[in-house]
Amino acid sequence: MKLFVDTADLNEIREAASLGVISGVTTNPTLLAKNGSGDVKSTIQEICRLVPNGPVSMECVTETAEEMLAEGREFVKWADNVYVKVPFNVEGMKAVRAMTNEGIRTNVTLVFSTNQVLLAAAAGATFISSFVGRLDDIGFDGLQVIQEAVELIELHEFDSQILAASIRHPLHVTQAAAAGAHISTIPFKVIKQMYNHPLTDKGIAAFKADWEKLNGPVSV
Ligand code: E4P
Repeated sequence: MKLFVDTADLNEIREAASLGVISGVTTNPTLLAKNGSGDVKSTIQEICRLVPNGPVSMECVTETAEEMLAEGREFVKWADNVYVKVPFNVEGMKAVRAMTNEGIRTNVTLVFSTNQVLLAAAAGATFISSFVGRLDDIGFDGLQVIQEAVELIELHEFDSQILAASIRHPLHVTQAAAAGAHISTIPFKVIKQMYNHPLTDKGIAAFKADWEKLNGPVSV
């Protein structure tokens, strides 16, 4: 499973890129608004420079298929690694079909059911973002949709990749990986939490202390 970072914060992306484990970035209008810059094009271009080999998702905000197609055509001019994020609905899936036919790579977002996954795959989506946390928040099992989505894609040999989105904590990442999600997009805070284990810290401190007892202070 590939790990993407779910943020439009340039400092977070810079730090995430330096970790050597991140292979893409997802943004959405909320994350871009949080970042504060009105110059979305420059922000996306900077993100694309920071993660040059990874997909960077930029979301459509219009309503008709024609408008979204026009947005998508514009976004992909910004950088080679821009993927067009398209909200799931009837117009969105028409737009995805048109973009796919033109070779524009897409990320269908706001997917909450297995039938929506099926329709997005049939429209030719490159990535399908199935939201885990927002389903859990209303008492449904977000991971179950991921499991069914992965099975559906493999069974029917669709080309789309399942992207586990709306990740809230490290266990969501573990479960998405175990379910076979192709990608998980993760808030930077959660990526940092994934590194932590008290027994690792304790073990490192103990090894260092024992080494120093043996050889004196460690020098490099
Ligand atoms: C991903 O691309 C989505 O925009 C994102 O994961 C949504 O997460 P949220 O439910 O935390 O807003």
